Amino acid sequence: MKAISNQVSSRVGLEALAVAVPRRYLAIEDLAVARGVPPAKFTSGLGAREMAVADPGEDTVALAATAASRLLRESDVDPGRIGMVVVGTETGVDHSKAAASYVQGLLGLPKAMRTFDTQHACYGGTAGIMAAADWIASGSARGRAAIVICADIARYGVKTAGEPTQGGGAVAVLVSDTPDLVAFDRGTNGVFATNVHDFWRPLDRREPLVDGHYSIDCYLEAAAGAYRMWRGEAVAAGLVPGEGMASEVLARIAYHVPFCKMAKKAHVHLRKSELEDRGVVLDEAAIAAEEIAAAASFERQVAPGLSLAARIGNTYTASLYFGIASLLHGQAAALAGERIGMFSYGSGCSSEFFSGTVGPNAAAIIARAKLDDVLASRVRIDVAEYERIMALAASEPVAESPASGTFRFTGSDEGRRTYATGA
Ligand code: HMG
Repeated sequence: MKAISNQVSSRVGLEALAVAVPRRYLAIEDLAVARGVPPAKFTSGLGAREMAVADPGEDTVALAATAASRLLRESDVDPGRIGMVVVGTETGVDHSKAAASYVQGLLGLPKAMRTFDTQHACYGGTAGIMAAADWIASGSARGRAAIVICADIARYGVKTAGEPTQGGGAVAVLVSDTPDLVAFDRGTNGVFATNVHDFWRPLDRREPLVDGHYSIDCYLEAAAGAYRMWRGEAVAAGLVPGEGMASEVLARIAYHVPFCKMAKKAHVHLRKSELEDRGVVLDEAAIAAEEIAAAASFERQVAPGLSLAARIGNTYTASLYFGIASLLHGQAAALAGERIGMFSYGSGCSSEFFSGTVGPNAAAIIARAKLDDVLASRVRIDVAEYERIMALAASEPVAESPASGTFRFTGSDEGRRTYATGA
């Protein structure tokens, strides 16, 4: 168990992580058959395999509290070290009371701390993580750490174009000055924001409004813009050489993944815009060669980070962090000491490209998240059961005992929500 140190460290990043996912999932091919769509459209067209289905008892707070309690337990974190709890979410449970305050209470965390939520569509989790990292790096944390939980339920509705891209889950990360999992490259983050209506959810709506194809264009423009700024800063800081393809210097890149194919589109676009920025003129032969190079680079740099997204679906704020978890779950030992890139996108839009170095003990740390066990404990449901769950009112949780170590929303009294936990 680590103790608090009063030394201000120049190192900051992710020390550990834990995840939570809904108990049920739907095989994406079952959904395709029920909708009369060729399964290949969802499997190879979107890159999906399975989709998490949250019932009303598994709300954002329940998923966030489950992930955060696993983080404290499995990584043996002294609650006295925590000076800040942040929930990044776009599917909160109250317009005013923070999900973070529920988490603080459910976990019995100390009172001497800041608790708040951060929101900007899927970028909200990264906003919280960067606020925590800056708090630590500034010295204001005085050796304390932050728990940031990215938690969301991605719900588009039955028989909509977005239906196969639904999902849900939470990733809780410990942000600290002993970033044993991923140490951030401070001062080189690239950001890009613009006021667009690609995906939004007015206050009275349970499902978002989305301009699906336009949202893909907005994501791609943001990825190129944020990456361009990161590249400039990383070259100036001497992290990557000024010549050649800087993105190739990164051992892996984890993207925000609304559906797996999006990460491929993003990677291909990022490479193309990097070539254009460098003034490389591509003739027909060079375009063909770049297509082959981009496909190979996608398999090496990006595909290893997609395994959880393919089985859970979109998790909005948590998506990038499930990507980092996937990557480290499969490859942490090989990546020890290597620099990785990370891209966070939130519709609306705001985005950030940043980098960091994988720690030497990352394999042992990620093993504590027990990702295989978490996925193996889920149950597969059929389309009829999925549609039944989708029709349930958000305010009326089904009475169900929470599994050991998990939390469930049990009901509310004038909006005062109650939760139960399984022993
Ligand atoms: P759609 O219009 O039904 O699908 O919805 P499509 O016609 O574009 O087809 C999808 C892909 O399947 C295409 O691949 C087709 O060619 C292929 P592409 O050409 O793009 O590479 N396809 C097939 N492949 C094999 N066999 C077949 C077949 N038929 C077609 N038979 C859409 C797709 C993504 C628009 C929809 O699902 C949607 O609206 N999703 C929600 C919005 C979204 O995910 N946007 C992503 C960017 S915005 C973002 O990431 C932010 C977000 O996470 C929210 C936040 O920030 O909070 C969403």
